Amino acid sequence: MSARIRIDGSEVEFAAEPGQSVLDAALAAGVELPYSCRKGVCGNCLARVLDGPVSGGVGQGCEGADAGELLLCRAHALGDLLISPRSWRRAEPGARVVLDAQVLSNKLAADDVSLLQLRFAAGVRARFAAGQYLEVLLPDGGRRAFSMANAPQDNDGVLLHVRHVPGGAFTSRVVPGLQRGDTLRVELPHGDFRLREQVSRPLLFVAGGTGFAPIKSIIDDMLRRGVERDITLYWGARDPRGLYGLDTIARWQRRRPRLNFIPVISDPGAQPPWNGRRGLVHEALRQDIESPAALDVYACGAPAMVRAVRTELLGRGLPAEQFFSDSFVSGADDATA
Ligand code: FES
Repeated sequence: MSARIRIDGSEVEFAAEPGQSVLDAALAAGVELPYSCRKGVCGNCLARVLDGPVSGGVGQGCEGADAGELLLCRAHALGDLLISPRSWRRAEPGARVVLDAQVLSNKLAADDVSLLQLRFAAGVRARFAAGQYLEVLLPDGGRRAFSMANAPQDNDGVLLHVRHVPGGAFTSRVVPGLQRGDTLRVELPHGDFRLREQVSRPLLFVAGGTGFAPIKSIIDDMLRRGVERDITLYWGARDPRGLYGLDTIARWQRRRPRLNFIPVISDPGAQPPWNGRRGLVHEALRQDIESPAALDVYACGAPAMVRAVRTELLGRGLPAEQFFSDSFVSGADDATA
């Protein structure tokens, strides 16, 4: 028998079938909740269950969870539930589409990062918000998630930054061999990592590796629309070659000389030699950011980095509702987001 799940403070209710996670039930009902990996790792789907019996809901992503929060991608309703997610919204009917996209170009930006430019059929455009992601639908039924790196105004195609996951069936074995004219089937848009514009606080963006992609989309979009908010960007990589978008950042800084960019390299033996900031990106934030509460923070990268940044900044007074994140999870099966 199905369970009824209600979102606290709203009239929104949806059904969860036996065996279906709370997250899957919400998405199937057109209720968008934050999520990324669907594997219990990223922690994006954390929510409080205020009432009702539930099983599961725990995993690596619980690190840094507030009291009473569970992972909705791992939680199953054993009866009617009342939940309080960190955010939610109704999906726009018809907003998500499945499209065939052709490879326009496929370039190596770093040793292990491909810039994959896809183009939709003539006349076809896809609506998405800067910061959202798509899923590549594979012939075996698998899905791989990648953020759009292009601004949403350029919606006759998408630009993806694909890190080659060691041993990854798609990112390491398929992506490097993709050639102009090859076709991928994609579904978009997904995710709620997008700029909140009701406020005008200064923005702190924190990227790890290819977590730069959605942040690039957001900043490109802001510059095109003339959104005047102070921008600081930290970008962490293992070695300098991982900072593959420096020309883009230089272009931004020509238009916005006050855009503050701090690259941070973690490998002490990094090549080529590096004279800039060293260490982990959350450590650099600890040294540099005196008053996080004055900022809106957008972080994207590996779950450990995102959690470390969240813990660091919330621990020094950043309100949780001013922290937005997208974590991507990598493994040999390429699970990313
Ligand atoms: S932990 Fe649930 S979506 Fe990642």
